[in-house]
Amino acid sequence: MNNFIFYSPTEFVFGKDTEKQVGGLAVKYGASKVLVVYGGGSAKRSGLLDRVKRSLTDAGTVIYELGGIQPNPVDTKVYEGIELARREGVEMLIAVGGGSVIDTAKAIAAGVPYEGDFWDFFLGKAEVKKALKVGVVLTIPAAGSEGSGDSVITKVETLQKLGMHAPEALRPVFSIMNPELTYTLPPFQTACGVADMMAHIMERYFSNTKEVEVSDRLCEGVLKAIIEEAPKVMADPHDYDARANLMWAGMVAHNGTCGVGCEEDWASHAMEHEVSALYDVAHGAGLAVIFPAWMTWMTTHNLHKLVQYAVRVWDAPAEGNPEAVALEGIRRLRRFFSSLGLPITLRELGIDHPDMDRMVENLHRNKGELLGNYVKLTREDTREIYRMAY
Ligand code: NZQ
Ligand code: ZN
Repeated sequence: MNNFIFYSPTEFVFGKDTEKQVGGLAVKYGASKVLVVYGGGSAKRSGLLDRVKRSLTDAGTVIYELGGIQPNPVDTKVYEGIELARREGVEMLIAVGGGSVIDTAKAIAAGVPYEGDFWDFFLGKAEVKKALKVGVVLTIPAAGSEGSGDSVITKVETLQKLGMHAPEALRPVFSIMNPELTYTLPPFQTACGVADMMAHIMERYFSNTKEVEVSDRLCEGVLKAIIEEAPKVMADPHDYDARANLMWAGMVAHNGTCGVGCEEDWASHAMEHEVSALYDVAHGAGLAVIFPAWMTWMTTHNLHKLVQYAVRVWDAPAEGNPEAVALEGIRRLRRFFSSLGLPITLRELGIDHPDMDRMVENLHRNKGELLGNYVKLTREDTREIYRMAY
């Protein structure tokens, strides 16, 4: 096991009606002026936004609003938010939504006290030393941004989709998680969330670090729970307990718990980000396509963890040729994604003529010549994996 620091100071408030506590929590963490950030309309339609604003007003905070955050969120909204927050002297961002809304709020939070261009953080030119506080009311279990110190933003001009990692400054101070808020999710978004949270665990699980039994077993256990709970939610979107388990799984998958002590991979995420940057597809759907292709490539390059994964997570028979065992695990993963209505090829994702040259070029320009850790991937390797995903 490798040395590690695990620092996760977020206060999670979980359960029915918990969004009513948002005002009290904002005040508890020192805010009197807040900027409420939300998406394209789901929070308005469901009445959630009104409940959040009522709680904030009742607690005595002054509210400003920034709505219309789109999936695969863009830099232009971040600039707008930074300007508004500076002008009004906002002290805290309240993100009401999923990864796209939360990541926009985090980028604004980092950008407000910074004299330069907030995009410097995403280019790795500057580190986030100071940020406004971020509070979250989560509406979709998927990206895990409610517990992570990450933000992922796309620059409209260059179509670069980049992430920043600032766990000390950017983990939300509180995250409200009411599973009932996810009842209104369309089945496709629920499924995308499932693929994303599974991918967050698998990026950590496929590691060459030895003797990480606790992390391995945590990963396997949470994956198995997701595999059991997801079909229940697809069958009955109002199954509170299944929704609750998925919501917590999405947080556990990405706040770092599952990867402590391991060298993590993240090549599949980097490869997917180029797909969603160019073709504006849902991140989770992109992962359902890319991850199994990455795994299939790995069966002929670094087999050991894939065999363990197939046997322990998918109950594949352990006997026989190890490559066949690994392939059976991947087959079961693909079948599971398909059963949720997710695409498993780029074509099924609606990309009939993927521009492989551009994806590979952008990928290595953004992330370096070698990608990932389980096996370090060259341009030839990533092109081959994109081709397999097609
Ligand atoms: O915009 P609205 O109308 O709210 O609709 C959203 C959006 O269309 C809808 N939705 C959310 N909650 C809903 C709902 N619809 C009905 N009822 C509800 N309760 O769902 C759609 C997707 O929302 P989005 O926030 O984009 O989803 P997600 O949470 O999957 O976030 C995806 C973004 O997060 C990034 C992804 O790359 C992508 O840009 N990621 C962020 C990470 C992080 N910060 O740690 C890590 C991830 O790996 C990921 O890269
Ligand atoms: Zn993800």
